[in-house]
Amino acid sequence: MFKKVLIALISVVLVVFLLLQLVPYGRNHTNPPVIAEPNWDSPQTRAYFYRACADCHSNETVWPWYSNIAPLSWLIQRDVEEGRAAFNISEWGTKRENEGDEAAKLVQEGEMPLPIYLPLHPEARLSAQEKQAFIQGLIATFGGEGKKTSGESEKGESEGEND
Ligand code: HEC
Repeated sequence: MFKKVLIALISVVLVVFLLLQLVPYGRNHTNPPVIAEPNWDSPQTRAYFYRACADCHSNETVWPWYSNIAPLSWLIQRDVEEGRAAFNISEWGTKRENEGDEAAKLVQEGEMPLPIYLPLHPEARLSAQEKQAFIQGLIATFGGEGKKTSGESEKGESEGEND
């Protein structure tokens, strides 16, 4: 009896899993052409970027095998699409908006790379020292040391704020 229920349960899970694979979203693994890159302050900064950011913020995404398996494929597709839309170093200088000036701050605060990315990309983990060097490189390349993170970015003093 118990065994039958268990087999039935496993079958249902399997069928649902197989049905998920039929959803067409998540398989569009394109890497559009690289048009232009930013003027990196150093090859080192670019190297850090390729380690920790480029999969979601360039047109040179490395699509891992599990990016073909739903529901992971859906998450990955969405992160790459949204990441590229906000900040894409492969289409630098095109009219599209680029939020590179936020990059240093997001790395400082540990918001980028997205934490969900790290367990499967240990190479994207930067040591404290690497992180500081990377932040300096991001500021030198993209600008953006302006905003302080410690509660002093109140209304009055934010000139040139544009979002
Ligand atoms: C796993 C994918 C992924 C990785 C890796 C990643 N990002 Fe992002 N990034 C995103 C997504 C998705 C968004 C858009 C999210 C949003 O707007 O809230 C984003 C947004 C941004 C933005 C735009 C600002 C904003 O708030 O929208 C910047 C700048 C940025 N990321 C920098 C970086 C940097 C620097 C790294 C490497 C240290 C990095 N990201 C790594 C997915 C990623």
